[in-house]
Amino acid sequence: MKIAIIGTGYVGLVTGTCFAEVGHEVICVDCDEAKVKLLRDGGVPIYEPGLDELVKKNTGTGRLSFTTSTKKGVEKSDVIFIAVPTPPQPDGSVDLSYIEGVAREIAGAMTGYRIIVDKSTVPVRTGEKVAETIHRYGHAGVEFDIVSNPEFLREGFAVEDLLKPDRIVVGISSQRPAQAMKEVYEPFDAPVMVTDINSAELIKHASNSFLALKISYINAVSIICEKSGANVQDVAAGMGMDERIGRRFLNASLGFGGSCFPKDLSAFIKISQELGYDFGLLKEVQNINANQMDRFLKKITETLWVLKDKTIGVLGLAFKQNTDDVRMSPAIEICQRLLKEGAKLRVYDPKAMEKARVILPEAVYLKDMNNVAEGCDALVVATEWPQFKELDLDRARKGMTCPIIFDGRNLFDMSEMEKLGFIYKSIGR
Ligand SMILES: NC(=O)c1ccc[n+]([C@@H]2O[C@H](COP(=O)([O-])OP(=O)(O)OC[C@H]3O[C@@H](n4cnc5c(N)ncnc54)[C@H](O)[C@@H]3O)[C@@H](O)[C@H]2O)c1
Repeated sequence: MKIAIIGTGYVGLVTGTCFAEVGHEVICVDCDEAKVKLLRDGGVPIYEPGLDELVKKNTGTGRLSFTTSTKKGVEKSDVIFIAVPTPPQPDGSVDLSYIEGVAREIAGAMTGYRIIVDKSTVPVRTGEKVAETIHRYGHAGVEFDIVSNPEFLREGFAVEDLLKPDRIVVGISSQRPAQAMKEVYEPFDAPVMVTDINSAELIKHASNSFLALKISYINAVSIICEKSGANVQDVAAGMGMDERIGRRFLNASLGFGGSCFPKDLSAFIKISQELGYDFGLLKEVQNINANQMDRFLKKITETLWVLKDKTIGVLGLAFKQNTDDVRMSPAIEICQRLLKEGAKLRVYDPKAMEKARVILPEAVYLKDMNNVAEGCDALVVATEWPQFKELDLDRARKGMTCPIIFDGRNLFDMSEMEKLGFIYKSIGR
């Protein structure tokens, strides 16, 4: 198939690359000239395991190319995917101006039938608006179909998720685009669920909100564990053995963040409200998440008392493991709140330091995680990178002024840490 992807970010670049990998001819469009230049020169603007190699391989075969021109993308393709941002507005609703802008550009460039597929995460009924927009701004008599095809990839595992998806959701309002969508996804050998556009859009918001709910649920349970002397990891393990519940997303922590969960949750609450339903359950998910961060910071201040002029080491800046993405990262929020209290920070992240430096220029960035603890009054684990488990704990303890660790991700074994002489505070244990 000849495919254009408008928006070459985390979703667009990985999707375009994986489509090329399975044999489609893909042109990725982005309005960011610097990004397109970097990609054309053989660079990759984001970190995703395995992505570099696939981009190189597929640009090499000529199946993957990059441009700043939406017109060119539309001219060369039969199916056009939209993967532009849908950021939150201050009131929690979604800023749909990127989607609307791209819809107008596509409409202006279309001279014959095209299938326009929305892959960005959008509130239910956005497909209807996109169709209206294309009708309004398109050339008379040019036919098109709108499809909703929400993306479920996890950052940090995006290539793997794209190549081996657990499901593909396709929302259509007529049978005409069905065959082309089947051909796009045929090589992926995954279950395809075909539904109407509104249901497809809702599946994405309902899924992400449910996952956020699962995290907040175990975080609320972690408070009861702390108050009663139980261990949240054992509770989660015991719950997760019930296959109706499942163990995943039951990791107590300092809370969720990232570019998707917080915004999708508030967008779902907002669209529900517009449709006349007060989704109080999801508002509580947000409250629990915000409180979890406050509770973690309280643990730090209660232990260290005054933070002004204390030196604190922070392991992890990305919003989760395996990514360089720091958008809405809880780790960044901790750093900002510690800095606000006057603390000095020594920080490390395997992949996210370049992006964090722009937001946190005051911190001292270390190249080796084993140097972070040197001279620190406390160490904070803020992201669940598995390599942090390999930290030289003996060296860390010797280098610190006080051997105190606040583990916001429950990475270490409690009794082991105590044996090593640390004051060790984690979540729900
Ligand atoms: N990141 C994720 O894990 C993830 C997962 C599933 C769904 N989504 C959804 O996918 C969408 C994109 O998210 P992302 O994380 O890839 O965003 P991103 O910010 O990484 O990428 C978006 C890209 O679109 C480009 N862009 C903006 N306006 C444009 C225009 N008019 N023409 C061409 N390019 C334009 C930007 O320059 C940027 O490169 C969002 O709706 C998001 O909610 C994201």
